[in-house]
Amino acid sequence: MSCRILVLISGSGTNLQALIDSLRARPTEGQIVAVVCNRPGALGIERARNANIPAVTLDHKDYPDRETYDQALMEQIDHFEPDLILLAGFMRILTEKFVSHYRGLLLNIHPSLLPKHKGLHTHQRVLDAGEGEHGSTVHFVTLELDGGPLIVRARIPVLAGDTPASLAARVQEQEHHLYPLAMHWFVQGRLRLIDDQACLDGSVIPPEGLKLEDFNNDLREDSYAS
Ligand code: GRF
Repeated sequence: MSCRILVLISGSGTNLQALIDSLRARPTEGQIVAVVCNRPGALGIERARNANIPAVTLDHKDYPDRETYDQALMEQIDHFEPDLILLAGFMRILTEKFVSHYRGLLLNIHPSLLPKHKGLHTHQRVLDAGEGEHGSTVHFVTLELDGGPLIVRARIPVLAGDTPASLAARVQEQEHHLYPLAMHWFVQGRLRLIDDQACLDGSVIPPEGLKLEDFNNDLREDSYAS
């Protein structure tokens, strides 16, 4: 049965675009049934519409507090009956009620090698710390911000002369392989959260997550097979 995927965004939606493109090769496996955005006018909304995906804007500024907003968001999401919810640059801290409601169905992509650099401004923080590598992580969402079980990480070297912008560009390039890979694993029933642990093909994923470079064969557009 085709997996119903819902994507939450706030911004330009390049990750959303990568997810859309990767599903084109395997349309029967899963479909993005809706995109929900909290920022009116975000470019990602246009990307959804161009792909004929229903796009809903739910502006957080129209709600008095986080609880009321998340309640409205949950109602909107549940209307589409998704099997999987992907946070793709959704710049909101989610309430406990929201996270618990979608436990095991909620993935996030974060621009750092988690558990390092949770939160914002990760590219600047990597430079400030003088680190030699950086990257991005896909993980299950649990109550701790950017803290749920790691699934898969992509690494890039930090080069002389790198700026936050140059790092962001190279990290995003990797993200556009990383997130589709994790999405396809979930859609195929291979990736699950079991007893608070991320599992792929029934085996517990190590705490530091899997390495994108170990799955190069899965990255061809027509692949994603086991
Ligand atoms: C990505 O770098 C992602 O890691 C972070 O927000 C950014 C979203 O970019 N959570 P885009 O909107 O997908 O282009």
